[in-house]
Formats: sequence, structure tokens, C-alpha cells
Amino acid sequence: MTLWHGRFSGQMDQAMADYTVSLPFDRALAAEDLLGSAAHVQGLVHVGLLTPDEGASLLEALETVGQEMASDSFLFDPSDEDIHTAVERRVTEIAGPTGAKLHTGRSRNDQVATDLRLWTKRELTELQADLLELCRVLERSALDAGMTYLPGYTHVQRAQPVLLAHHFLAHGWALLRDVDRLRECRERLDVSPLGAGALAGSSLPLDPDFVAARLGFARRFENSLDVVADRDFVAEALFDLAMIGIHLSRMGEELVLWSSEEFGFCTLDDGFSSGSSMLPQKKNADAAELARGKTGRLIGNLTGLLVTLKGLPLSYNRDLQEDKEPLFDSVRQVRLGLRAMAGAYATLAIHPETMQRAADGGSIAAIDLAEYLVLQQVPFREAHAIVASLVRKSIDEGSALDELVAAHPLLGVEAAALLAPGVAVTRRTTPGGAGPIPVAIQLDRFKAAIMNAEN
Ligand code: ARG
Repeated sequence: MTLWHGRFSGQMDQAMADYTVSLPFDRALAAEDLLGSAAHVQGLVHVGLLTPDEGASLLEALETVGQEMASDSFLFDPSDEDIHTAVERRVTEIAGPTGAKLHTGRSRNDQVATDLRLWTKRELTELQADLLELCRVLERSALDAGMTYLPGYTHVQRAQPVLLAHHFLAHGWALLRDVDRLRECRERLDVSPLGAGALAGSSLPLDPDFVAARLGFARRFENSLDVVADRDFVAEALFDLAMIGIHLSRMGEELVLWSSEEFGFCTLDDGFSSGSSMLPQKKNADAAELARGKTGRLIGNLTGLLVTLKGLPLSYNRDLQEDKEPLFDSVRQVRLGLRAMAGAYATLAIHPETMQRAADGGSIAAIDLAEYLVLQQVPFREAHAIVASLVRKSIDEGSALDELVAAHPLLGVEAAALLAPGVAVTRRTTPGGAGPIPVAIQLDRFKAAIMNAEN
């Protein structure tokens, strides 16, 4: 039997039921639905719409439903179109006629919005912990990296040497911005929709502030039409999750490159690689590749929801049911991705010699020569041209750059010494720069930022 059988004489067609049912996925909201219903019952008692006895019997029935669900003994009925219907049906079976009072002053429209906000709030809090865990791994990797350096790249061309710690921390700061975004998203979604009813509030003396406080929401809705139609928080969460995915994807792409024989900068632990069913020698970075690959779907989940929302008139429309699957999927995939990447980074074997050899070669310290000339009062553009012509000459003639530099009247042996292995990276001394002095300060600031975000 449907919740609206009084209005209808005919049965719902099976094709319609199959198409519109949401129970297979909104079962994930069971715990929140029970919490929301319990607060609603308490609210009804509070304003005298239920007697304390009626309230107690409904709360007891909700409790029983919770136990049945937890022990997997809850029997769903083919007529349960969604989790809200299932819970109300079972509460009525257990509590008898009082069950018919559970939905007083409430609609599934404010109910589902309440459930989903509670669910999102909790899940984003947990994800924040997973993000911070990966930040901790990067902090550890930065510490372990010590004075190891590698080429910093722009356009995937060797540009300037940077400390490996600086490189790891670069990813860390991006993830800390994600932590911040999740926190802000949670703060904005911390609004209780309960009491908005189907769309317009109620003639009954409900107290939305009371139920908002019972559910631990920071505040109640300001506008009933808005709150039953508002899925901004889902779109925002999906953006934040896609952004985390993009960060993981960039980190993953880097692991794929670095662990290739061409780079040889690191080796992935066996626990975070897979082999080939045909080629005996292969060791592949599959988790890193999936961090890249799955991000396509995270972006798809975001754009799909935005398209669903864009043409909807106020207020609730059934289209809004399409908010859940993308959200559940993105939360799950990001959680799995964060954990896999934390493991891959924590167990990564770095090859400092290969990294440093790549950063010592050729003309990667050319800018240091130009800056040497700047300190001799040569205007930068002229200095750039002088060094560039020496680089070109060394390439054209196949001669060593340091010898050309040593022989140059404005440069000489002191400048040539800047090209020696390991020197250039130590000269990046400015705040936030890639050398040992600023990186040590940065590492302290990063630790403090993690601690701050944990509280
Ligand atoms: N399954 C629905 C959803 O996810 C619940 C709300 C149904 N409301 C309605 N008026 N049909 O949005």
C-alpha cells in the first residue's frame, strides 16, 4: 500500500514502480532517517501534537526498526518505494494506530533533505580525517626526503632543482585546501529543513528550531520553498570531491611517470602495484592510474547533478532524487582513493641518486648564472641573453657549460662553481622557495596547519 492510497483507486504500474523506486540506493540513509524521525517525534511531543505516551511508543518502534536494520533482519516490502516509506510502514506495524501519527506535519520533501544533510555532514567529517591522514603521510615523506633534490619541471621540461621535500609539500598544501573546502561546505549545509513540510510549512504549531537543535544542526531553514528545493550542498560537496579527485589524479600521474623506467625516480611497493597477466617483467602503477581514471567519474557526478538542477522550478521535484547516487558514489570513491594513495606514498621507495643525477645535468642552474650577473649590476635581460648564448654554444659545440662560464669575462670560475652538483638548490633561499632554509620553515608551518585543521 502506498502512502497516498486514499487519493488513488488504481495500483501503480510495475514499470512505473521499477523506474521510480529509490530504495536500492537510499537505504544508505536509514540511520539518518531514523534520527530525523526520532527528532520529529520529540518535536511533536514538545508542541503537544503527540502525548508523551504516544511519543514514547513511536520512539520505541523507531528503536526496534534501527535494531532490525543493524542486524539485517529488517524485511523490506515490495511496496517500499524508498527508505522513508519503509521506516514508516514498519513503525506502524510495530506501534499500531499511533504509527499513523508519525508523519504529522512532515513531508518526505523536508524529510529527505534532512536525511541527506545529516548524511553529508557526517561523511564529509570522516573524509576530512582521511585527507589529513594523507597530509600526514606527505609530511613524513618530506621529512624523510632530507636534502634529496630533483629537477622541478615546467612544461615537463627540467626547469630548476627543488628539494624533494618541497615537491611533496606542494601536494600537501593542495590537500589542506581540500580540507578547508570540506569544512566550509559542512558549515554551509548545517541547516535543518525539518518543519518545511512539502513546501510551505504547516498550520500545525511545529517548532523547527527545536528539532534543528535536537538533530545537532547549527540552525533551521529560513525559507520552506528554498530548503526543500536546495541541493546546493550536494553540488558543492561533489565539486569538493572532484577537486580532491583531481589532486589525487595529478599525484597519481606523477607516480606513473616517476616509477617508469624512463624516469626511474621511485619504485612502488609490491602492495601498491600490480603485475601483467602476460608480460612477466611488468610492475604497473594501477592504483595511481585509477586515481587518474576515476576522477573522470567524479567530474561526471558533479556535472550530471548540475544539469539535473539547472532547469528545476521551485520547489521539490522528483528529479531531486537523482542527487543521491552521484553523491554516494563520489564519497565512496574519494575515500578509497585517499586511502590507496596514502598507502602508495607511505611505502614508496625513492631513488635519490637518479633524481639528483637528473637535476645535476646540463644547464638546469642557468638562472643562477643570470642572477650572478644581476648581482654584478648587469640588467637581467642582458644577463639572460649572455647565459642563453653560452647554453646555445655549449649545445652547438658540444662543449661543457662550466668551462665556457669559467672562461667568460663577466662570469669566471666563481660563477662556474654554481653549476656544481647540488649547489643550485641550496641557493633558493626566499620564503616559500625550494631550498633547505625555506623548506625547513615550510615544513614547520605545514605541521602547524595540519594540527590546526585537526582541531
Ligand atoms: N525518494 C525521494 C527523493 O529521493 C523522496 C522524496 C519523495 N517526495 C515526493 N514528493 N515524491 O527525493
